[in-house]
Amino acid sequence: MSAKKLTIDYEEFSSVDEMLPGDQELVKAALEAQKGSYSPYSHFQVGAALLLDNGLVVKGANQENAAYPSGLCAERSAMFWAGANYPDVPMDTLAVAGSDHGVLCESPSSPCGACRQVMAEYQKKHGKPLKIILVGSKRIRKFKCVDDLLPFIFDSLTI
Ligand code: THU
Repeated sequence: MSAKKLTIDYEEFSSVDEMLPGDQELVKAALEAQKGSYSPYSHFQVGAALLLDNGLVVKGANQENAAYPSGLCAERSAMFWAGANYPDVPMDTLAVAGSDHGVLCESPSSPCGACRQVMAEYQKKHGKPLKIILVGSKRIRKFKCVDDLLPFIFDSLTI
């Protein structure tokens, strides 16, 4: 047996103004995307903005349903739309913002496991790192690739 350790690098910003201009735009788009949230059950509005390599920003928002499992997270609604409409265009950066009853969470809300798995698959499909920005009102975190949010990714093609 040998003990191993895993470390994760990420950047943390205390204000959007500290970020690169392109990232600032994407944060704004994620905040704006929250308006598309349909969340009458959780009252938790999540917006996602996905920058594609062709410069397009695809927005997504969580969609809930009375039959609970039928809903979908903001991140997957953006990625699936991009996957369906621009299957050959790589994904560059995904920004996510979550608000509770209309108030942006202080600490960035973090993508669920299912969304991380979907991010991992698109990252692999396109063969380039998908950067992730998680937006909170007190801090914003930026990860350089999905592996930093989902280590030891499940990949049926390499089992
Ligand atoms: N939600 C997202 O949109 N993204 C996530 O990564 C986690 C959770 C949504 C699902 C549900 O509509 C609401 O947030 C509360 O869980």
